[in-house]
Amino acid sequence: MITVAILTLSDKGSKGERVDASGPAIEKMMKKMDAKVVSCDILPDEKALIKKKLLSLCNKVDLVLTTGGTGLSPRDVTPDATMEVIEREIPGIAEAMRSEGLKKTPFAMLSRAVAGVRGKTLIINLPGSPKAVWENLAAILDVLPHAVEKIKGSQKDCGCSNI
Ligand code: MTE
Repeated sequence: MITVAILTLSDKGSKGERVDASGPAIEKMMKKMDAKVVSCDILPDEKALIKKKLLSLCNKVDLVLTTGGTGLSPRDVTPDATMEVIEREIPGIAEAMRSEGLKKTPFAMLSRAVAGVRGKTLIINLPGSPKAVWENLAAILDVLPHAVEKIKGSQKDCGCSNI
């Protein structure tokens, strides 16, 4: 079973000034995938804090899903923190999310979300709204089990999946 940590990045959410609806939206989708959510945290949009948290999760869970802070405002630093943590970027994951998102809204191009691997952990940024979480995750959900398997060193042949 895939283990998942959810990390919400929001200044307001971290101060209790906004209810976090995106973390629970991710949790719901993870249940569909039969994954086990082992932690759910909210942090402010502070690069150093985000980086520290991501580093603490690496090699402890299979998948870290962040939500929020991927946009263009000066406080949006999630992709920047993620880039400093990952060892290998997986551009195709973010490309797929944006290209599917563009079918729903032109605003999808404004997310700077990245995805990549550190050690045996896959980190994926998602935008902050529950709607965007839903749309972005839907674009990649079916591929995640295979991605995690490969990151963990599975020798199984590719091309045997029927997605
Ligand atoms: N992608 C999808 N699929 N659907 C959306 O509604 N919202 C966009 C974009 N990506 C959206 C989306 C918007 S409005 C913004 S500003 C960026 O994600 C960044 O969002 P964030 O700063 O909350 O991470």
